[in-house]
Amino acid sequence: ATTPVTITITGAGGQIGYALLFRIASGAMLGDDVPVRLRLLEIPQGLRAAEGAALELQDAAFPLLRGVEVTDDTAVGFEGANLALLVGARPRGPGMERGDLLAANGGIFGPQGRAINDHAADDVRVVVVGNPANTNALIAQANAPDVPAERFTALTRLDHNRALGQLAAAVDSPVGEIRDVTIWGNHSATQFPDVSHATAAGDPVLGVLAARLGGTDAAREWLVDEFIPRVAKRGAEIIEVRGSSSVASAASATIDHVRDWVRGTGERGWTSAAVVSDGSYGVPEGLVSSFPVTSDGSGWQIVPGLELDEFARHRIEASVAELESEREAVRELGLV
Ligand code: NAI
Repeated sequence: ATTPVTITITGAGGQIGYALLFRIASGAMLGDDVPVRLRLLEIPQGLRAAEGAALELQDAAFPLLRGVEVTDDTAVGFEGANLALLVGARPRGPGMERGDLLAANGGIFGPQGRAINDHAADDVRVVVVGNPANTNALIAQANAPDVPAERFTALTRLDHNRALGQLAAAVDSPVGEIRDVTIWGNHSATQFPDVSHATAAGDPVLGVLAARLGGTDAAREWLVDEFIPRVAKRGAEIIEVRGSSSVASAASATIDHVRDWVRGTGERGWTSAAVVSDGSYGVPEGLVSSFPVTSDGSGWQIVPGLELDEFARHRIEASVAELESEREAVRELGLV
């Protein structure tokens, strides 16, 4: 029998946690032949909600689920973790400045990084969902000196999936036919959703858009004025329409991120994930920035050698500048 994979989910009593747990336990993330043990790590105020979710997990009778533990002790929470999904974070409150937000999250992700360093399994892989996700991942990574840096990632798969959804609708193609879209930079409004290498059923998306919209200029205009802002601001649109933030789609993207990382991207082209930069595409080394990535199951590889036009370079630089200023701010706070 396969040894169960131990998965720690922080903020498991929250909304995304609730949407995530059942899909993990069903086998959607690691496969329907991989048993799992779940560690739900919460703060004291969130414990009852996590305990309630644990009762429901029992009631769902998932054959792959080999145990659920609820705790507010960080060391216990990460003990032996093979995967750590860091969902719990401090949201921006009214009147909170960016510095306050980064400091509050530093107080969460610093200790969690240290606990991962000291207690997790040797093969631990980490994905940060809680915002500001990229810089929270940077903080956790900086506090885990014994864990290879490339094991720390942040989620931009939701942005990637949103871009796929918008393109599929625009070119009237099944979403599974769209390949090689990229989210670059920060999981924030400065992100750059890039379709310059994307194809729909094998045809360059730019050509398909031009044919549908009446020319290359019209296609460019749609990308700059509609597509990019819509993807970047989709979170706000969901809040406005649904009356609550993105939850199920965020959980689904987290499942996709981990599944592709662990099981590989295969023949489906690349995806997007925020990973520790090795200096590729001019992104300063060490920043946790979104790139086009593939995985053979052993780890993310940044897709090398893509050509970027001036527009793309400019957009990537703007988002990376934001990441640099976030890094500067957490350095000044002594968090990294
Ligand atoms: P939520 O407020 O429903 O749940 C957050 C949970 O985290 C709460 O139960 C809270 O008690 C817990 N928590 C807070 N601090 C903690 C700590 N130090 N240790 C363990 N647990 C802790 O929020 P929701 O909707 O589940 O969202 C979670 C995070 O995900 C937010 O930061 C949100 O901004 C972010 N998010 C990120 C997305 C992305 O694409 N990267 C997409 C959507 C949301």
